[in-house]
Amino acid sequence: MIDLRSDTQTKPSQAMREAMATAEVGDEQEREDPTVLELERRGAELLGHEEAVYLPTATMGNQIALAILGERGTELVVEETAHIMVHELGGAAMHSGLQTRGLPGVRGRLTPDQLRATMRADGTFHTPRTSVLAIENPHNTHGGTVWPLDELRELVDTARGFGVRVHLDGARLMNAAVASDVPATEIAGLFDTATLCLSKGLGCPMGALIAGSQELMHRARFEKHRFGGALRQAGIVAAAGLYALDHNVERLADDHARARRLAEGWAAAGLPVDLELVQTNFVQVDVGALGLSQRDALDRVAEAGVRLSRTMKAGVLRAVTHLDITDDDVERALEAVPQALGARVHA
Ligand SMILES: Cc1ncc(COP(=O)(O)O)c(C=O)c1O
Repeated sequence: MIDLRSDTQTKPSQAMREAMATAEVGDEQEREDPTVLELERRGAELLGHEEAVYLPTATMGNQIALAILGERGTELVVEETAHIMVHELGGAAMHSGLQTRGLPGVRGRLTPDQLRATMRADGTFHTPRTSVLAIENPHNTHGGTVWPLDELRELVDTARGFGVRVHLDGARLMNAAVASDVPATEIAGLFDTATLCLSKGLGCPMGALIAGSQELMHRARFEKHRFGGALRQAGIVAAAGLYALDHNVERLADDHARARRLAEGWAAAGLPVDLELVQTNFVQVDVGALGLSQRDALDRVAEAGVRLSRTMKAGVLRAVTHLDITDDDVERALEAVPQALGARVHA
């Protein structure tokens, strides 16, 4: 089976497992785990902030960010299909008392004008003030699309002008950095806090980082404990993170090239694929335009030996390349998927 459901399907390589097996460990809650401390040091440097905190998941990172940046009874603004909006089970309301407002984005991107028109800098006796803006880069639902740095900077500056704090959901930030050839430091450094997931394209079995100022990360460590995420001998998994930062970042370009090859091949074979969305390791296929339901299309491709997954967009499936997908897998999927979906090339 060629598993293109998600880059979360990667399994730790033999070399990564060896790094884990030989990791020096200690009590992470006491900040005595040397491997975690080293990963946090590297993470802070990579993300352009004073300090980083190691976490089990990127969802926890986003939720901690909202807890430390937001204020109860105020508003969080996000793009309407952002992970924080649609995949975190209302955590912003549950944990941090934030009302979430989703704005429509173009390829996951919001504009300064949109913010000017919607931000409630002061609030009123009846209207909640906006306290946090969260941005996703690359944007998952919109197909792994990447924000141009200038646009991001302008948006962040606009939000700050309203006294609003800004968080980056950079679950796949390294894909954005590699695809746009902009250092992650420059992207994540624009924000008050940024999360990076280690268990997606970077290939770790688990783990994420949140970064920010010393003062914010001090508060993040308290929230981490409150969320039940303070760990013990976590160096065993943090070692995978260090291995990934050394070995699995530059190679993301291979995943992007494979996604591009899939997208172009599928489009040429008659599958409805918007090539402009293919900027990192995602390819979206509009099976609705072929008259198929998501379920029917998933079953058909699975029977042909390929696993794809759903997106939040009606009728749209996705393929995600990652380090367990080879050129050979891509060649096989290039043939199998259009056939299974009954694609026709229109002259
Ligand atoms: C954009 C984005 N943010 C956050 C997450 C959450 O990551 P985790 O599974 O580590 O909680 C995901 C997971 O797919 C994601 O795509």
